[in-house]
Amino acid sequence: MFHIGYAEREQARPKVKTKTKNETKMRKITIAIDGHSSCGKSTMAKDLAREIGYVYVDSGAMYRAVTLYALQHDIIQDGAIDEERLKDSMGDIVISFLFNPEKGRPDTYLNGQYVEDKIRTMEVSSMVSPIATLPFVREAMVEQQKRMGAEKGIIMDGRDIGTTVFPDAELKIFVTASAEVRAQRRYDELTAKGETCDYNEILKNVQERDYIDSHREVSPLRKADDAITLDNSNLTIEEQKQWLLREYERVADCRKPEQP
Ligand code: DC
Repeated sequence: MFHIGYAEREQARPKVKTKTKNETKMRKITIAIDGHSSCGKSTMAKDLAREIGYVYVDSGAMYRAVTLYALQHDIIQDGAIDEERLKDSMGDIVISFLFNPEKGRPDTYLNGQYVEDKIRTMEVSSMVSPIATLPFVREAMVEQQKRMGAEKGIIMDGRDIGTTVFPDAELKIFVTASAEVRAQRRYDELTAKGETCDYNEILKNVQERDYIDSHREVSPLRKADDAITLDNSNLTIEEQKQWLLREYERVADCRKPEQP
């Protein structure tokens, strides 16, 4: 059976100072953040998690780790996925997260190896959407994600968090931005890491992933009916961070009546 070494869920939690008077008045909730690729979901989610001491889980990193495993074991060859072999290998894939205090977010590990950088390369990006369409992969991921969130106090981002993983989340956000803005952000991110890349290739990859993510049969990307949409095309990171913090306080503040 596929499993994720996340019994140590606490390893992914930022260590926060003693609770302030205000924090003690906050009820523990579940926050689901969905949206298109490279729209800044992870940045805003991890910043909020650090600020309020919640566990942050980047569910996309889990699909990326499975993709990396498949590439490393020649389960993907020339763009073709050997689905039977991947299915049989699922029990050998152990994904875990460990909070990195320097970066202020958890890093991803695959079978005990640090893979945070390897799962963000173009090679993985170009194969992750087809891997994420496979029902047996999704089933295994969703089961683990639900377990991680059983105690609340979690922020998870992805594509199907508000619709499938945590349909009862108290706060659901659907983030969007134009494909061009997202491609530019991804380009800046990769070049800052020293990776050589081409803007047009990235834009094409972003558009292809949008299409596959929104049109797949199992859990396609769509806004949950009760999610709030945030278009951050023209917002700075700081502005969206403040916006999310206000939304969290609006929903979690015990002094305010519970939302219907
Ligand atoms: O968020 P990301 O770009 O790192 O996600 C990588 C891929 O994984 C993306 O193509 C969609 C897929 N994904 C998914 O299908 N469901 C999720 N909950 C998260 C990611």
